[in-house]
Amino acid sequence: MPVDVWSPASWRGKPIQQSPDYADAAALGEVERQLAGFPPLVFAGEARKLKSMLGKVAKGEAFLLQGGDCAESFGEHSADNIRDFFRVFLQMSVVTTFAAALPVVKLGRIAGQFAKPRSAPMEKIGDVELPSYRGDIVNDIAFEAEARKPAPSRQLDAYRQSAATLNLIRAFASGGYANLENAHGWMLGFVKDSPQSARYQELADRITETLGFMRAIGLDPESHQELRQTDFYTSHEALLLGYEQALTRVDSTTGDHYATSGHMIWIGDRTRQPDHAHVEYARGVRNPLGLKCGPTLGADELLKLMDILNPANEPGRLTLICRFGADKAADRLPDLIRAVKREGRCVVWSCDPMHGNTVKAASGFKTRPFDKIMSEIRTFFSAHQAEGTYAGGVHLEMTGKNVTECIGGARAISEADLHDRYHTYCDPRLNAEQAIEVAFLVAELLKAERIGRGRSEADAAE
Ligand code: PEP
Ligand code: CO
Repeated sequence: MPVDVWSPASWRGKPIQQSPDYADAAALGEVERQLAGFPPLVFAGEARKLKSMLGKVAKGEAFLLQGGDCAESFGEHSADNIRDFFRVFLQMSVVTTFAAALPVVKLGRIAGQFAKPRSAPMEKIGDVELPSYRGDIVNDIAFEAEARKPAPSRQLDAYRQSAATLNLIRAFASGGYANLENAHGWMLGFVKDSPQSARYQELADRITETLGFMRAIGLDPESHQELRQTDFYTSHEALLLGYEQALTRVDSTTGDHYATSGHMIWIGDRTRQPDHAHVEYARGVRNPLGLKCGPTLGADELLKLMDILNPANEPGRLTLICRFGADKAADRLPDLIRAVKREGRCVVWSCDPMHGNTVKAASGFKTRPFDKIMSEIRTFFSAHQAEGTYAGGVHLEMTGKNVTECIGGARAISEADLHDRYHTYCDPRLNAEQAIEVAFLVAELLKAERIGRGRSEADAAE
């Protein structure tokens, strides 16, 4: 069977899910034409570096931490929000690095995470029915007819916001903010008084002590850049394919196509049909890819998708982001792990403990119980331990702010608290304190795994 020729536009000949209805095709075409002339947001070489780091994750030599907003918004775009997110991410990554004694790959759902798949194309409130909100890159969240019309010009705003966000992140990552000597200073105002703070302070003290020792023997941040800066990568769901196509570029050093809208792109659970548009687009770009794996994905279909998305079985190319829900994970995961292992496929296994655990509170707010999130992560680690595979990462919806969107956690946010600071534009996120609590759990699990591995190596040597 001849393989169809891929081009950045070949997805247009395939059936497509979750595509907005733009009323004015000419205006859409004009925006896409403009975007195609704009500078790339990220470079192919950076995407390749991320891929090689993810290759290490696939082999159990690093851990992947991926997280950020469910949906970035134009309204919440500020330096403070980006800084708060970035520093909680740094805190989480030192917590996990220390425990795992492995490099942590830092990957934000940021600087491009704007387009949202929805379970229904229309939303009804009372007698009024309007198109669903599909993310700020498509339409406006306000429940008004004009606001909900998909507007092509919003793609230009999303591009510019992504560029500004990326600029600040690059500055934070390399301009001194991420210096490990600041580990104490990353403590956020409200996290400072939290039950997590003592644990974090203790760790920060150990880092300071270690850095003091290293300085004494001549290894200081001034002469060792890995101590004063970090690599931080961006990712988003490649849902709005016209936008993605416009930002697809040929890399001059290799001649390959790359999505330059972000370092990693992923395919959502609702748009992963093997013969449809989203898979078609993703297969042809050389970036690392994520694939959301939900409860309806069978092992055969997963293998078929892996043939399409990673035919050469390249390490780091494909991250399987499992999001089954705490109650289904133990049942669904082993099947997929066994199939992947049997076929000798090299993948990163990552756990998204958010999307299978969304519930509606009596008050109408969408929320996620913190204990279900923790429970899915535990199940994920134990399933991999049982199969002899590596639990390589977590994928979280989180913010650096003190929001009240997920119930539970050390501060026991209740359903009655949700309305207090419920700011998300889409799904409920972990607040900074809950995110750090998750990081401590992951750290414990990674440490147990490391010790277990050490033990079995010692047994094998006897
Ligand atoms: C998301 O990550 O925000 C999302 C919509 O996930 P999924 O495709 O897994 O439902
Ligand atoms: Co989400």
